[in-house]
Amino acid sequence: MSKYGAVVLAAGKGTRMKSRLPKALHRVCGRAMVSLVVDAARSAGLSPTVVVVPPGSGAIEDALGGEVGYAEQAEPLGTGHALLQARRALEDVENVFVLMGDMPLVRAETLGEMESLHGRLGACATILTVVRAEAKGFGRIVRSSDGRAAAVVEDADADGDEREISELNTGIYCFRAGWLWDTLPSVPASPSGEVYATDLIAMASQQGERVETLQARDADEAIGVNSRVDLAEADSVMRRRLRVRWMLAGVSMPDPSSVYLDADVELGEDTVVLPNTHVSGMSRIGSGCRIGPNSIVSDSEIGDRCEVVASVVEGSTMDEGGRVGPFSHIRPGSRLGRGVSIGNFAEVKNSRLGGGTKSVHFSFIGDADIGSDVNIGAGTVTVNYDGRDKYRTTVGDGAFIGCDTMLIAPVTVGERSDTGAGAVVRDDIPPDSRAVGVPARLIPRKGRKEE
Ligand code: UD1
Ligand code: CA
Repeated sequence: MSKYGAVVLAAGKGTRMKSRLPKALHRVCGRAMVSLVVDAARSAGLSPTVVVVPPGSGAIEDALGGEVGYAEQAEPLGTGHALLQARRALEDVENVFVLMGDMPLVRAETLGEMESLHGRLGACATILTVVRAEAKGFGRIVRSSDGRAAAVVEDADADGDEREISELNTGIYCFRAGWLWDTLPSVPASPSGEVYATDLIAMASQQGERVETLQARDADEAIGVNSRVDLAEADSVMRRRLRVRWMLAGVSMPDPSSVYLDADVELGEDTVVLPNTHVSGMSRIGSGCRIGPNSIVSDSEIGDRCEVVASVVEGSTMDEGGRVGPFSHIRPGSRLGRGVSIGNFAEVKNSRLGGGTKSVHFSFIGDADIGSDVNIGAGTVTVNYDGRDKYRTTVGDGAFIGCDTMLIAPVTVGERSDTGAGAVVRDDIPPDSRAVGVPARLIPRKGRKEE
């Protein structure tokens, strides 16, 4: 029998978000809120974790996968009713944590503290509370004369005195499972027709059961996302946490507040992230890099000692020592080998560039396999699209593509060959050759200047 399991409530309508997307799937630092909550439960060792979802919630299940259980709440009849749906899946645990799918900032350490308090005192219910001035939308913790938590009164139901209470219900609890499952079916519906999980507290207290509270040390953990305003607040708190974490791990940020990191990003030591830079998705950046200013790196892998200056790198890989920018765009499916240099106003898409290759001035390289140590002159374009299909361009190692060359794909430029300025290359060029003109034709070459 597992000692501590968890329920994550994520079946509410989320009306206040004014969105077609289920609230639990709105993102905080690139991650669906509910997946951050599930992560916290997992890191705290709560198992199993059961997520209560609305009907037709395939999107939530897609986001979370098979590591959690699911229970469906057919109609959103309140947090108490939602909790009851998880009963069957959690009958075998001794204690049940209740977490909210809209509280993405809760920390595993806090859940751990709750668990030890709950266990040590043999509590029937342990509530995570928070003290903060902004109380709108929060249930108030009402204490009896002996100081014990006696009830949670919802904001809408609070009278004048209760409204003044600054100790608030986070909506996160730990209950003794046997008591919870016995009592929950008898929680009466509120006048609105909803069954409130919060009513469990008054019931436990009236039955003389032990109710304990733990006050969250960090009030931000209690941010519940009900509207887009709350979402922005949660995002900014999470971003700040991530920046601190990476700075402590050896990453420099001269202006941290303008650095936007997603939750799954990894950054290496001695990397500098300059202002106005976003590193998002599953990006991994090596050590000793300079990223920014004014750059976006998403879902990309960047090796050690790379530079990305005022540029966008998406869904691509840069090997060690590469450089991009300023003002260039590396689009998905690209791989830039060691020391590749992409300068100004260049676009690379779905292409592989071998080590040491350079495209330093404006150019478009799309659907191309470019060897190593190739020099791509200013204005070069891979003409990859005939309006219907896309074709690939191949350029061998050591080739020299003259300025303003049009490579009409499918086409191959052999190793060590070169093209004259303005060449329009329709036919393949064999290795060690030279092609010039429109359309390009082969001419003998007298030898080639070494760079
Ligand atoms: C809840 C608490 C309140 C607490 C606040 C903290 C209740 C009655 N109130 O209010 O005391 O201070 O959280 O943020 O519990 N949900 C379902 N099914 C439902 C209704 C809700 O799964 O039928 C889920 C929602 O998806 C959400 C969570 O439960 O993830 C909380 O619901 P919400 O409506 O946001 O409750 P609050 O009004 O914030
Ligand atoms: Ca809420």
